Amino acid sequence: MITEMIPLTEENIQDSMERAGEIIRAGGLVAFPTETVYGLGADGLQEKAAEKIYAAKNRPSDNPLILHIWSEAQLEEFVAEVPEMAKKLMKAYWPGPLTMVFRKNACVPYGTTGGLDTVAVRMPNHPVALALLKAANRPIAAPSANASGRPSPTKASHVLEDMDGRIDMILDGGSCGIGLESTIVDVTGEVPVLLRPGFISEQMISEVLGDIQVDKAVKEKLKEGEKPKAPGMKYRHYAPKASLTVYDGECSQVIATINELTKKAQKEQKKVVVVSTKEHKDAYVADEVLVIGALGDEAEIARNLFAVLRDCDGLEADVIYSEMFHGGQLEGAITNRLMKAAGYQIIKLDEMS
Ligand code: TXA
Ligand code: MG
Repeated sequence: MITEMIPLTEENIQDSMERAGEIIRAGGLVAFPTETVYGLGADGLQEKAAEKIYAAKNRPSDNPLILHIWSEAQLEEFVAEVPEMAKKLMKAYWPGPLTMVFRKNACVPYGTTGGLDTVAVRMPNHPVALALLKAANRPIAAPSANASGRPSPTKASHVLEDMDGRIDMILDGGSCGIGLESTIVDVTGEVPVLLRPGFISEQMISEVLGDIQVDKAVKEKLKEGEKPKAPGMKYRHYAPKASLTVYDGECSQVIATINELTKKAQKEQKKVVVVSTKEHKDAYVADEVLVIGALGDEAEIARNLFAVLRDCDGLEADVIYSEMFHGGQLEGAITNRLMKAAGYQIIKLDEMS
């Protein structure tokens, strides 16, 4: 299959959307930008089309997809009920980076929901995503458009890296503004449960709903046999190829520790890459230092996180060390992704000394 890459311009956007919409209706695969990350879209009501997503990504078939819609009115077609708390969250945060898990209606195939009786739904807030949904005139099932296990794509070039020859079309609408996937909240029970942190923070949800539970898989590694409520949270995720370890603590101690470990690794002929804030860039002795953003600029750090992890692969790192990033609305989401990318290797230095 030849994958067509379309850099969108004012001149070609209308025609491109019509063609992309046709591909979706015909059961094909189109990657598109959203405000969070690029999605890999297929008609969410065609089981065969949704199955193609799993094949293209090499994704385990028990990991459900998110159904994207462009208007609140569509929701009732796809879900068995819209609980009060969902209405409040929709009013506050849709369209936007918030996904909610509902009990599904019969029209949503199990191929889309990974065999579950629930369905995750989100209304994205990105002009290209919304235009594609309207042009296709279908709800679009879309996971992040990376090969399973790799960091999510925040640029069209990342999608091409993973999906060239495996999908029909990539709509290049530039870089994604947020850079981390949507927040997921399960609204099927008495109390809302946070399944995946994102731009809409735990605090922003409790501002609207009061009490909220947090699924254990959000903040810690589950034990053998324990199951996260979002099946996707159990897989090794967002991971660069080399082993990544994150050091958390006072700046000078973090820098000294990483430099010491770097020298040891270099003696063993290993290529070391360090993920650093702009301010600390020159303090490291590593072979390559990748700047993720300015200290305290969580929005910039979130936006660059997945691209930096991909760059580590491009540089053929043997070992990666990273600083930890604290503060702000995005801290929960950044920590969650970094923790998973590092396979839970986050070392707290001040606790050790
Ligand atoms: O920002 C996003 O949400 C992006 C863009 C493209 O919209 N999509 C995305 O999809 O991140 P994906 O497939 O990479 O992540 C979906 C997550 C997985 O962890 C999956 O297990 C969970 O949502 N999920 C989907 N349906 C679910 C359901 N019915 N119950 C619980 N978790 C569900
Ligand atoms: Mg994903």
